[in-house]
Amino acid sequence: MNSPLRIALAGLGTVGAGVVKLLDENRDLIARRSGRPIEIVLVSARDRMRDRGIDLGRFEWVDDTSSLADRDDVDVVVELIGGSDGPAVALVRSAIAQGKGVVTANKAMMAHHGLELAAAAEKAGTALKYEAAVAGGIPIIKAIREGAAANRIDRVYGILNGTCNYILTEMEEKGTAFADVLGEAQRLGYAEADPTFDIDGIDAAHKLAILASLAFGSEIDFASVRTTGIRAVAATDIAHAAELGFRVRLVGLAEVVGDRIHQRVHPCLVPLTNPLSKVTGSLNAVVAEGNFVGRLFFEGRGAGEGPTASAVVADLIDIARGEAGPAFAMPSHHLEPIGAGEAGDRRGRYYLRLSVADETGVLAELAAMLRDAGVSIDSLIQRGQADAGGVFIAIVSHETDESAVRKAIEAMRASSSVLGEPMLMHILDF
Ligand SMILES: NC(=O)c1ccc[n+]([C@@H]2O[C@H](COP(=O)([O-])OP(=O)(O)OC[C@H]3O[C@@H](n4cnc5c(N)ncnc54)[C@H](OP(=O)(O)O)[C@@H]3O)[C@@H](O)[C@H]2O)c1
Repeated sequence: MNSPLRIALAGLGTVGAGVVKLLDENRDLIARRSGRPIEIVLVSARDRMRDRGIDLGRFEWVDDTSSLADRDDVDVVVELIGGSDGPAVALVRSAIAQGKGVVTANKAMMAHHGLELAAAAEKAGTALKYEAAVAGGIPIIKAIREGAAANRIDRVYGILNGTCNYILTEMEEKGTAFADVLGEAQRLGYAEADPTFDIDGIDAAHKLAILASLAFGSEIDFASVRTTGIRAVAATDIAHAAELGFRVRLVGLAEVVGDRIHQRVHPCLVPLTNPLSKVTGSLNAVVAEGNFVGRLFFEGRGAGEGPTASAVVADLIDIARGEAGPAFAMPSHHLEPIGAGEAGDRRGRYYLRLSVADETGVLAELAAMLRDAGVSIDSLIQRGQADAGGVFIAIVSHETDESAVRKAIEAMRASSSVLGEPMLMHILDF
């Protein structure tokens, strides 16, 4: 057996502890697959005294996490601290500069600094791997970077946040309101005490920006991801969607249209014919469409100790085997700075939910506003009593420009018949 690959592990929380357990349990199998043992040498976190339910006495504890990369007896630094900036990125920069391999699960850091880090790793001739950063245990980075590498990919999309999917499917199954399901999810530990990154779509946006770069050969452009979370999704939207043959999912979608890239994270109506509609609970799923391979669909656990550790250790096995290669599937100087599409550019069908005054003539007024904006109605449902005393109206448009729908919404906002903010969702027609 060859010499071991020596690891410094930074961060011993959910994922870090999972990596220790996995390397223990599958030690022999991993050594056979890698051609050499993978051994943790150094560990570091904030609180040395914290009981993590794992035996850390065999490893050398280092108080100063930032110094982990400085040691000569370390080949790879595994960064499992988290955060887009601060100690995580400082450690990764230092590791790369010293020619160490890096494995990270940190999507926020990769979305913000991925291009810089990839370029630095290439210059240093070392590996930067981040399978766990997107969709946890689903090997989607490897699939796009390697398995589908021969294809032009013009669209990649998916359910990239398990907390949101759990909330939406609970709302769907139990007919409960968003706030009630969120509270219950927090009580059960499925949602963070501060769920902002999840439910406002930011976590999914980080992952989408990484996927888009990898799929399209473009520079990561997190700032251009248009992001709407699930706070405004009401139980009535889910009921309307079901009546119309759809399910509501928080979808991250990146596509190339002409010479522009559109990146969006937002709640969508997904037709029952699309595999994403069947993805329930905290599962994640990703669809990538290649010009030769066709539609690829991946589903699995997007978070949690086991699945995330599985992805981290798969990256370590690659490095142990000497399989590195450029982080974003091509040398970073080949990634192109492709511009972002305009918000109103999308053509498609739309779902619009309004709370309107329960008066005669309101439907005619709405129809006129839509007609004036150039939006034609495919179907309309009037269902249930709205909170503000009005009634709910759900409208599905025929295919039209998003800018036209937005124009209609502007008119609706100015109308005294429309109570509260209209809710707009894209319909995923593929
Ligand atoms: N959890 C998941 O399911 C999942 C899935 C995919 C990706 N990820 C990503 O994996 C990374 C780790 O997530 P996690 O859930 O394992 O987080 P976590 O449970 O909060 O653990 C974070 C670890 O980092 C340590 N840490 C925090 N600040 C530090 C600092 N300034 N210096 C040194 N150590 C520090 C903590 O130390 P103490 O324990 O001493 O406080 C803790 O051990 C994040 O980037 C996350 O986005 C997580």
